[in-house]
Amino acid sequence: MVGKELIIADMKVDDLPEALAIETASFKTPWSEPLFYNEIFKTTAILRVAKINEHVVGYLCADVIIDEGHILNLAVHQEYRGRGIASRMIKEMIDIMRDRSCGSIFLEVRASNDVALKIYEKFGFGLLGTRKNYYVSPVEDAVVMALRLR
Ligand SMILES: CC(C)(COP(=O)(O)OP(=O)(O)OC[C@H]1O[C@@H](n2cnc3c(N)ncnc32)[C@H](O)[C@@H]1OP(=O)(O)O)[C@@H](O)C(=O)NCCC(=O)NCCS
Repeated sequence: MVGKELIIADMKVDDLPEALAIETASFKTPWSEPLFYNEIFKTTAILRVAKINEHVVGYLCADVIIDEGHILNLAVHQEYRGRGIASRMIKEMIDIMRDRSCGSIFLEVRASNDVALKIYEKFGFGLLGTRKNYYVSPVEDAVVMALRLR
């Protein structure tokens, strides 16, 4: 478990190099730098970073369209996994979306990503359906999950 040293803050352009290193180590088809950059400046986006000793150890990217929240990306540095960092970011994001009067939060996850499925289930997300062959490299179905907030 991480304690007081963990800080969750808005993602800034200066955080991009460390976030990108985590992204490329975590995903076979990672988000590009321009994609992160665009998200940082998008008015509907909420990008949060988890930092320890001023270094990025994880991030969660989401957006809110009217009253619907969408979790778009989540990763934690390999050396910092299993300490509750993703849980802290998800809990905080749910609180932010509740404060913004979101009725539901949606996300997609690779059908084989048992760790991510388990985390979202822990926070009450339920299975909504699947999107066939949604992902590439390797091709795989997406599991669509949703959390109702009201
Ligand atoms: C998914 C990921 C973000 C989890 O980050 P994390 O900080 O290690 O997660 P946490 O420590 O908060 O763990 C939360 C829950 O996940 C589950 N979990 C975490 N590590 C696990 C493991 N190795 N095996 C099984 N379940 C695991 C548990 O349910 C855990 O809750 P618990 O501690 O109360 O039992 C991280 O593994 C990661 O970056 N993976 C690669 C990128 C990815 O798959 N992102 C998700 C895309 S939707």
